[in-house]
Amino acid sequence: MTAHDDDESVIRRERFSGGPAREFLSSLAADERIFAADLAVDQAHVVMLTEQGIISEEDAGAILSALADVESAGHEALADGEDVHEAIETAVIDRVGPAGGRMHTARSRNDEVAACLRYRLREDILTTVETVLAARGVFLDVAAEHSETIMPGYTHLQPAQPTTVAHWLCSYESALARDTERLLSAYERINQSPLGGAAFAGTPFDIDRERTAELLGFDGLVENAIDAASARDFLVETTAATTTLATTLSGLAEDVILFANRGYLDLADEYASTSSIMPQKKNPDTLELVRGRTGDTTGALNGLLTTLKGLPRAYNRDLQRATHHAWDAIDSVTEATDVAAGAVSTAEWNESKLAASAGEGFSTATGVADLLARAGVPFRTAHEVVARAGSQYKKKTNDTSMTKANDTSVGETNDVATAETNDTPTVEMLAAAAETVLDEPLSTVVDSAALEQALNPAGSVSTRDSRGGPAPPAMTAHLERAHQTLDDHRQTLVASHEALEDAHQKRQQEVSSYV
Ligand code: ARG
Repeated sequence: MTAHDDDESVIRRERFSGGPAREFLSSLAADERIFAADLAVDQAHVVMLTEQGIISEEDAGAILSALADVESAGHEALADGEDVHEAIETAVIDRVGPAGGRMHTARSRNDEVAACLRYRLREDILTTVETVLAARGVFLDVAAEHSETIMPGYTHLQPAQPTTVAHWLCSYESALARDTERLLSAYERINQSPLGGAAFAGTPFDIDRERTAELLGFDGLVENAIDAASARDFLVETTAATTTLATTLSGLAEDVILFANRGYLDLADEYASTSSIMPQKKNPDTLELVRGRTGDTTGALNGLLTTLKGLPRAYNRDLQRATHHAWDAIDSVTEATDVAAGAVSTAEWNESKLAASAGEGFSTATGVADLLARAGVPFRTAHEVVARAGSQYKKKTNDTSMTKANDTSVGETNDVATAETNDTPTVEMLAAAAETVLDEPLSTVVDSAALEQALNPAGSVSTRDSRGGPAPPAMTAHLERAHQTLDDHRQTLVASHEALEDAHQKRQQEVSSYV
């Protein structure tokens, strides 16, 4: 009979009976996520202890074999315990006998759990980065197909200026590039080893912290032993970065929902839902859930910060309640990223509807004012000419419309208050406004072909070729730079994966030299 059979863990045997708070204290179920991490940390620690002459090669061999056995039995085979660290140690002692108890020499669960969390979070963050990179690749592909697809651009949700689908989508790709950088930057600080800090006060054993760091693929140390046990800012910044990513995605989702509502795009059936009662409905539920995921991550960030606020040094059990927030947030956003990418890449853009809507609300007004200003008219005066023509258009529309006959502001305002109208003033109206404001015929200021171009949404877009603008050549240049940044991020990801894989190989090699 093993200690496992009588359901008594080693650590608990004398001091901890469990009692009514047993379940409450335990993180064992949630620790499944760090089961593999804990085994890796145990291996690295045992190898280091052996190399330092702190434990014998014979004991190391027995412990490392037991760990392999525990690994193949899986997390679910662990005996009941306070947490995975205790349960694995118990399982090792069950197999090895008292010598198995040497595994926990010169460390504590405090540095151990911190090492496990960092070890696991590294993998998770790389998975998130990979998913974001895939989404960015998809967005750049869609953008390349739609660099000439004209669409309305909005401010305050009002038609503002025409732009292109590529320009709109690349705005999200650029935000995702920064989200990627935040995740990669957080990774650098996650990737530091707290192991060897012990409970918080170091150890009298002649340990080699750099060696365990190396065997676990960490880039450096969380040197101060109190800091090593206490620090959870790596969870905070990761969760903040995932929350920022979720916020980016929520804006994208909102735009797509709006575009679907206006018939600018049609979501693929597999990214839409229908109604249980209204047979005609096709709802953008996936995007609504992407938008909703921001609630998960924001909640997690708040939960995490609230848990950590005011905790004294060094280890306090509250920290056990910090961890799940980070897992929840990162899982939620990674899934949402994947779904958002799928929804965008499979949506059909309704190009004729987009083109027809692109000029709505006299959205070419700024381009016309720019044209006059480029011909030498001060921009404010040009603005006035265009505003007046817009007002005249509106007055004419209202005069002929019985339903709008009571609008008294028309004609008195300089604002282009045409958002609720759907069209653009004629060249004649612009000419009349120019005569009044400039005191000279419009034709002496700009030629009519240029004016027609400015009044046309596609023509308007083609003139806005400043860096970062929507004109197709400017977009082509932007896409090139965006691909370059994406490639750089891909390389960073590959290098990080390789470093982890190298450490894994190195550790396995050392382990196999003892077993
Ligand atoms: N399950 C614990 C956690 O997640 C591990 C550390 C326990 N340390 C302790 N001193 N009780 O934080």
